[in-house]
Amino acid sequence: MLPPLGRGLSAKLARGTRVVVMQHPVVAITGASGALGQALLRSWHRRGARLIALSCGPRRLDLCDSEGSPIPVREITWCVGQEQELGGLLQDVDVLVLNHGINVHDDRSAAATEQSLQVNALSGLRLLELFATVVAQRPDQAGRPRAEVWINTSEAEIQPAFSPLYEISKRLIGQLLSLRSLELVSPQLRIRRLVLGPFRSGLNPVGLMGAQFVADQVLVQAQLGFNLIIVTPNPLTYLVMPLATLGRWLYFRSLTRG
Ligand SMILES: NC(=O)c1ccc[n+]([C@@H]2O[C@H](COP(=O)([O-])OP(=O)(O)OC[C@H]3O[C@@H](n4cnc5c(N)ncnc54)[C@H](OP(=O)(O)O)[C@@H]3O)[C@@H](O)[C@H]2O)c1
Repeated sequence: MLPPLGRGLSAKLARGTRVVVMQHPVVAITGASGALGQALLRSWHRRGARLIALSCGPRRLDLCDSEGSPIPVREITWCVGQEQELGGLLQDVDVLVLNHGINVHDDRSAAATEQSLQVNALSGLRLLELFATVVAQRPDQAGRPRAEVWINTSEAEIQPAFSPLYEISKRLIGQLLSLRSLELVSPQLRIRRLVLGPFRSGLNPVGLMGAQFVADQVLVQAQLGFNLIIVTPNPLTYLVMPLATLGRWLYFRSLTRG
């Protein structure tokens, strides 16, 4: 649960149960040096989060707030395929944002196919599973707020993105997320899906929205309690994505067992 802007929270009562609310959550974000990664770090910083930037590149982040003051960030380098090595680090994480992604555009080679599946789908799945295991095994559950994992799929889950391998890999992680959420959501772990429309970044230089606008909207919707977070100028997505999510939930739930 997110602390609202401008004030800290310690705890509140809901349906007679004491809910522990994050005051200064530890937030780890993959793809941290990308446009949305940096924007999310800024947005989370404004809410008092302690930040961990997970980056596959050697580039150091140089993040500043709106007054030009440096934003403290712990920077960790990792690579797709090294997910298990992050297990120790994830022990301290309250919110894990899986945001890394790649777009190979018109490339349909074997290498591009493998890279798209690994980066956009399989590494996210591995990190989701790892974080769920870490959270389930935490010894001090009673005093801890519910951990969260946010997965940035894309509007490409349900819309054309004019990039077949991007669509295939984002649809795969979206479907796997729907399936595995049936098992992984628990009183200790909340899962949120980010479905974003086109915003300007290295991955999409001609996006309509700005990355900071998108990041701020994402946090507002999380604050409102949404698990399906949609930010896009395309009205169809607001209609189709909830229906697709509900349809998958019903289909997977009726045909699979834990
Ligand atoms: N831009 C859009 O229109 C749009 C729309 C919907 C969804 N999205 C999604 O939003 C997320 C952020 O993308 P962005 O638009 O901000 O693009 P971006 O600026 O290119 O950021 C993507 C980041 O992903 C990380 N990454 C790239 N290749 C990787 C690899 N092989 N292994 C591990 N990490 C890798 C890199 O960050 P590090 O070097 O820090 O690891 C990169 O900066 C992606 O998942 C993307 O699919 C984007």
